[in-house]
Amino acid sequence: TAGQMAEEFGTEAYVVGGFVRDILLTKPNFDLDLVVETDGIKFAKKLAKKMSGRAKYHRKFKTAVVILPDGQRVDVATARLEYYEYPAALPTVELSSIKMDLYRRDFTVNALAVHINPSSFGKLVDFFGAQRDLKDRTIRILHALSFVEDPTRIMRAIRFEQRFDFRIGGQTLNLIKNALKLNLFNKLSGYRIVHELKLILNEDAVPGSIKRMDELGVLEAIHPLLVLNSSREQVITELERVISWHSLLYLEPTISVWKTYFLGLCMGISKPKMEQIYNRFSFSQTEEREFVHLRETIFWAAGNIMNIREELKPSEIYTILHPVPLEGVLFIMARTKRDMIKKYISQYLTTLRLQTIDITGDDLKELGLIPGPQYAQLLFETKLACLDSLVKGKDEQLEFVKK
Ligand code: CTP
Repeated sequence: TAGQMAEEFGTEAYVVGGFVRDILLTKPNFDLDLVVETDGIKFAKKLAKKMSGRAKYHRKFKTAVVILPDGQRVDVATARLEYYEYPAALPTVELSSIKMDLYRRDFTVNALAVHINPSSFGKLVDFFGAQRDLKDRTIRILHALSFVEDPTRIMRAIRFEQRFDFRIGGQTLNLIKNALKLNLFNKLSGYRIVHELKLILNEDAVPGSIKRMDELGVLEAIHPLLVLNSSREQVITELERVISWHSLLYLEPTISVWKTYFLGLCMGISKPKMEQIYNRFSFSQTEEREFVHLRETIFWAAGNIMNIREELKPSEIYTILHPVPLEGVLFIMARTKRDMIKKYISQYLTTLRLQTIDITGDDLKELGLIPGPQYAQLLFETKLACLDSLVKGKDEQLEFVKK
């Protein structure tokens, strides 16, 4: 439909970016980005109407997103020469709009387009040798000022390199090193750094990305306290195993993966020094509070569980671990070298945490107990008794409460 519409508008439309890259790599990608050589907002409005979807626009950037009835999003951008500021790095004068649009992008492999007008449907547009780079498995920028224009591309280069098991090209690598020497990261807002870091830490192959960031000096550029040492490296490697074990058990993404790895990166940093990191990342008060809480509960629980010498009852394991958010429990599991503790944590995650009891607050009310905080305490103690199999079934639980 979009291709036909482009024809009616007397213009060209293209699918661009990650979608094209991933088709050539035979990987799934559901983010559809269109570029049209006309007013993208008008185009998106019409496309939305034709497809019974709705459109949202960003007038300043001449971009729009069309949301189709099935929820599929299609981003529409405008490629019109008059909208571009002429980049200093650009040597040629005569350029088509699509070429200029692609030239502003980060890496060759992301700068591919495919015609979708019916007359030229499926024709690949490759101005910058992207097909060669895909074949050679290379991440390469398009011009020497790319990282100066946008230093977050350094983290993107690492993310794509590790995701596809590519290599950052030699010249590109040198430009990354130069950009870091020029302290370009200092200019980046905390928000943008955290955004890129989250993207990296939420992908597969996180240990590889972290090692690469460390080797190139990216971690140090983000904050000197974050550089790797052998214990952090070990924990991060082990975290990958623990997280994939957990995700196989539970299909729902019940944990925030990036936070779990971030705990590993911050391992051994004192509480006052963590303040520097929260400040650099411009964490909101809520984010900071959450992370402080996470670290404190880990500190408390790890202290308790690591000191154990004799066997623990299920209720004791539960008591120690239940105040800790899941990310923290997985972190403790990755950090310990003792199989017995790993076993306790696995028992907690797979059974103890999920076990329910039969009585509720209503039953306590029926017993004539006055509602209040003691309700939670009584239910908690009943759960502990159930975990140790001291009471079974509703009747025994009620008896237990009465006593
Ligand atoms: N882009 C860029 N510089 C950035 C971010 C994005 O040039 N700092 C360009 C890239 O060319 C990319 C496009 O904008 O292809 C869309 O960005 P994004 O959705 O982040 O990239 P994808 O390649 O689709 O990545 P992913 O597969 O992770 O969704």
